[in-house]
Amino acid sequence: GTGFDPADPAILRDPYPSYAWLLRNDPVHRGANGVWYVTRYDDVRTVLGEPRFGRAGIRDLWATLVGPGPLSEVLRHTIFFQDDPDHARLRALIGPAFTPRLIRTMQARIDENARDLLRPLRARGRMDVVDDFAYPLALATISTLLGMPAKDRDALRAWSVAIAPTLDLLAGPDEIARGQVAMGEFAAYLTELIGDRRAHPGEDLISAMIAATTGRDPITTDALIGTAVALVFAGHDTVTNQIGNSVLALLRHPRQLALLRAEPGRLPAAAEECLRYDSSVQSNSRRIAADLELSGTKLRQGDLVVALAGAANRDPAQFTEPDRFDIGRAEGPPLSFGAGMRFCLGALLARMELKAALRELTGLTGLRLAVADGELVYRRSTMFRGVVSLPISYAAGA
Ligand code: HEM
Repeated sequence: GTGFDPADPAILRDPYPSYAWLLRNDPVHRGANGVWYVTRYDDVRTVLGEPRFGRAGIRDLWATLVGPGPLSEVLRHTIFFQDDPDHARLRALIGPAFTPRLIRTMQARIDENARDLLRPLRARGRMDVVDDFAYPLALATISTLLGMPAKDRDALRAWSVAIAPTLDLLAGPDEIARGQVAMGEFAAYLTELIGDRRAHPGEDLISAMIAATTGRDPITTDALIGTAVALVFAGHDTVTNQIGNSVLALLRHPRQLALLRAEPGRLPAAAEECLRYDSSVQSNSRRIAADLELSGTKLRQGDLVVALAGAANRDPAQFTEPDRFDIGRAEGPPLSFGAGMRFCLGALLARMELKAALRELTGLTGLRLAVADGELVYRRSTMFRGVVSLPISYAAGA
């Protein structure tokens, strides 16, 4: 064959049969384009979590693609594109700002936002889970986290819609031009917001990062802008898509949905199983700086490696009957949030949002998919998996 191609429409719709084939037959697979696709749980954990598999090489490919301008000026400094020691330095800066106190504040706000969003939707008997519920919840959470006023959420949404396509290595010139304009505006907005937080600290992450570095090595506005942009892109489509994927998995498995409704104490385990069964982040890429060996396969300096967490989450060596959706599972963490040195800094928040969403939505009576399953359309991305819209119906006013 011509090798695994994650952009193949059939694979975008359902990648799991191909993953199963790779896991069984060619777990470190060289694709048609020379890219390595890694599928086993242990190998994916290694690639995602160890410094030998770097991101700086990906940054350089991407910077060449988008050319000079605000996009690369801002994004090349974000945590996603650094190797150590820069990566460790940024992580040490962002990580501790997620204080237990901030997380507690966020928990209350997330639960409240989820309830407020659902209230007007109840009476309608019908909604699009993605647009009416998941996206507004994720956007409200990330803007609260960054201390952005609610009135600026529409602007944030517009910038992020314009910038997101440029993060893909397949971006075209028109998309890049629009992304440059949007990033220029977004960076100017953040410069003002950060100035305001320096003068009037609040209960938000930007204020926390400023406070944490005041005195010894004060953080620059550029580093804060990069971090804010990184958090917006790390933490909002991912959560939106994960809520959609999770609700869909429950709708496709009515007995599991009934079990969760009957025993709400199962919510944390159910959320983990949703993350494992259909992760919104399917893959992350790396470029290796020096020859190495992965499970007996020799990889060369400069090679691109794509670690498929979506496949690792179905590795039968880690999960029994991996294709079965079972909210009673307890077989170790999925790799949906990555691993090791780059493990997702927002995992706790993402889980809070997912649980709040599932709590509210599974509380609706008569919940069902409002279109034929075959009509669902997936986003065109090899990295992020999620349905474009997820219409559901339920007993009105329930
Ligand atoms: C990193 C997944 C939500 C912030 C990552 C990585 C994955 C991931 C796989 C590692 C990327 C790599 O190894 O290349 C997810 C999923 C989410 C989610 C599936 C939702 C369901 C969030 C949220 C935030 C966030 C809500 C912030 C509020 C970050 C940051 C990193 C990261 C800052 C970079 C960590 C580092 O490079 O050291 N995430 N994420 N994520 N995530 Fe998340």
